[in-house]
Amino acid sequence: MPAPPTATPEEIRDVNTRYHDGAAAGYDAKWGIDYGAVGRAQVLAKVRKALGGDAVPTFERGLEIGAGTGYFALNLLQAGVLREAVCTDISPGMLGALERNAVRLGLEVSTHACDAEALPFEDGAFDLVFGHAVLHHLPDLTRAFAEFRRVLRPGGSVVFAGEPSYHGDRLARVPKRAAAAVAPLWRRAMRAGPAPDDSGDGAAEHHALEAVVDVHAFTPDTLARAARAAGFADVRVRGEELVANWFGWANRALEATADPDEVPWAWKVYAFRGYLALQELDRRLFEPRLPPAIFYNLMVSGRAPGP
Ligand SMILES: C[S@@+](CC[C@H](N)C(=O)[O-])C[C@H]1O[C@@H](n2cnc3c(N)ncnc32)[C@H](O)[C@@H]1O
Repeated sequence: MPAPPTATPEEIRDVNTRYHDGAAAGYDAKWGIDYGAVGRAQVLAKVRKALGGDAVPTFERGLEIGAGTGYFALNLLQAGVLREAVCTDISPGMLGALERNAVRLGLEVSTHACDAEALPFEDGAFDLVFGHAVLHHLPDLTRAFAEFRRVLRPGGSVVFAGEPSYHGDRLARVPKRAAAAVAPLWRRAMRAGPAPDDSGDGAAEHHALEAVVDVHAFTPDTLARAARAAGFADVRVRGEELVANWFGWANRALEATADPDEVPWAWKVYAFRGYLALQELDRRLFEPRLPPAIFYNLMVSGRAPGP
């Protein structure tokens, strides 16, 4: 859901900071973020898809924008794709969670709490600027891409993945609504009670902020234009996740209506494995054949002109 048209850029940044500070502690569990073989394979597949080609190159120094708890940077470091990672985010709470994850995994990273549109780094300081699920939170995409270009060395790459697609988001409403309609029957089948009333513990306020943090859903053209306007060459936009996403959102919509402690473990395993299997189906069958605009997630890549 896009932010209300009345929200100023400052309000959007402020709400993003508060919302993500509040979300940090439970973020990895909520989104099933993995730092083992599964997570590494997912992140590598996304970067490979975004850049094109058979293998992901190695980058000396990478800058992550909106790094959150470290899904991309920590997995890229473990995969040996990045030799050094600098992780930024507007939310100090998210960066705190990232630092704890890095310690647990025995990885070294440096973190900076800052806005994507005003990066505290010198020109040409990085070989790769990257991010996942962050561009849709930024008030001014043109300014942000100009910053990404400024801090990249000539010949450096930019890669952003996991951005919501305008048409893909509308298509995904169908399974979400269908799931909401059958949720009482599903709970009965699972022998799970309804979700506890969350009023009074801050969860309701947290939920209300959700409506303000998402500023955009993109068409492939919007992303390509923003990258080209900043001077990037070889701009590519790809789409990913179609049926995997419908399956994932339908399950999430069902689970949201139930007491999380009463959803059977076997269901959670089925939902996770089913999602991975359908991701593979999307990758092999649909992504090479269908237009990027209808997929749920978009990814954009480009190259800073130069040697
Ligand atoms: C949906 S989360 C994604 C986190 C992580 N990249 C991942 O994929 O798990 C979006 C992240 O963008 C950050 N963010 C939002 N607005 C930002 C801004 N203006 N500048 C930098 N980061 C921002 C949030 O704090 C949050 O950590």
